[in-house]
Amino acid sequence: MTHIIEARNVSVTFGSGATKVEAVKNVSLTLAEGEPLGIVGESGSGKSTLARVLAGLQPPTSGEVLFDGKPIYKGNKSYVGDERHLVQMVFQDPYASLNPQLTALSAVAEAVRIHDKCDRKSAEAKALELLKSMGIASMDAAKKPRQLSGGQRQRVSVARALSANPSVLLADEPTSAIDQSAQAQLLNLFRGLLNQGLAIVLVSHDLGVIRYLTKRVYVMKDGVFVESGNTESIFNDPQQAYTKELLASIPGTLGVAARKKLQG
Ligand SMILES: Nc1ncnc2c1ncn2[C@@H]1O[C@H](COP(=O)(O)OP(=O)(O)OP(=O)(O)O)[C@@H](O)[C@H]1O
Ligand SMILES: [Mg+2]
Repeated sequence: MTHIIEARNVSVTFGSGATKVEAVKNVSLTLAEGEPLGIVGESGSGKSTLARVLAGLQPPTSGEVLFDGKPIYKGNKSYVGDERHLVQMVFQDPYASLNPQLTALSAVAEAVRIHDKCDRKSAEAKALELLKSMGIASMDAAKKPRQLSGGQRQRVSVARALSANPSVLLADEPTSAIDQSAQAQLLNLFRGLLNQGLAIVLVSHDLGVIRYLTKRVYVMKDGVFVESGNTESIFNDPQQAYTKELLASIPGTLGVAARKKLQG
């Protein structure tokens, strides 16, 4: 199997002395082309830091990341050359990543222009198409981030990321700030993207969301992977106490089943 991304023994340490935080500790990971992969773990376990390393935004303190077999970091630079656009990240907080002054259409059109180097008119036409495919009607495309719902903002961020025609989409907690129906809508859009061959790394503290979308998952705690493998197997037969705890914290029937298993 071809691995589009491979992380080898990646560690990330912030600060030093008393303020030193080892956010990621000697973690190795593979992502196959077109694969739906999950990274799950509680708050502060290092998920966003690892995702930023994979996106080329956070040089690791040690270890390396390969894209298509080639190291992506050269010193503090990353994805030097034509490959930069192939890995796109949707951030945990879409407010922070979308320019508050730009309408959804302008934000996406700007990204299209950067990648396609086309004129404004064709960039806007492509941006409208992308927004439409993400379920954003032209009326909403004319709105600025604060005038959109949380779910709409997330979908605008995804449309912006897709404007680069990436091979990999890293989605960091895309569903955490939106309600259940908006979550379902976004996850179904992700399903559609997977069907088109995009690889998606879904980062979430919510095992329910991970189960819905991914086939393989890494369970993260305190900067390390405590368990990894087939998502369904891990759901049905978690090996580690930490994974069992995460499962038991899911509301609804799945949580009840997992709780029973914990008790039994
Ligand atoms: N730039 C930074 N400087 C210092 N410490 C940081 C920095 N970024 C993250 N950390 C620390 O690294 C650890 C992991 O943070 P990270 O954001 O990766 O966790 P997470 O799993 O994404 O959490 P959440 O589910 O809350 O988003 C935390 O202890 C955090 O405080
Ligand atoms: Mg995070």
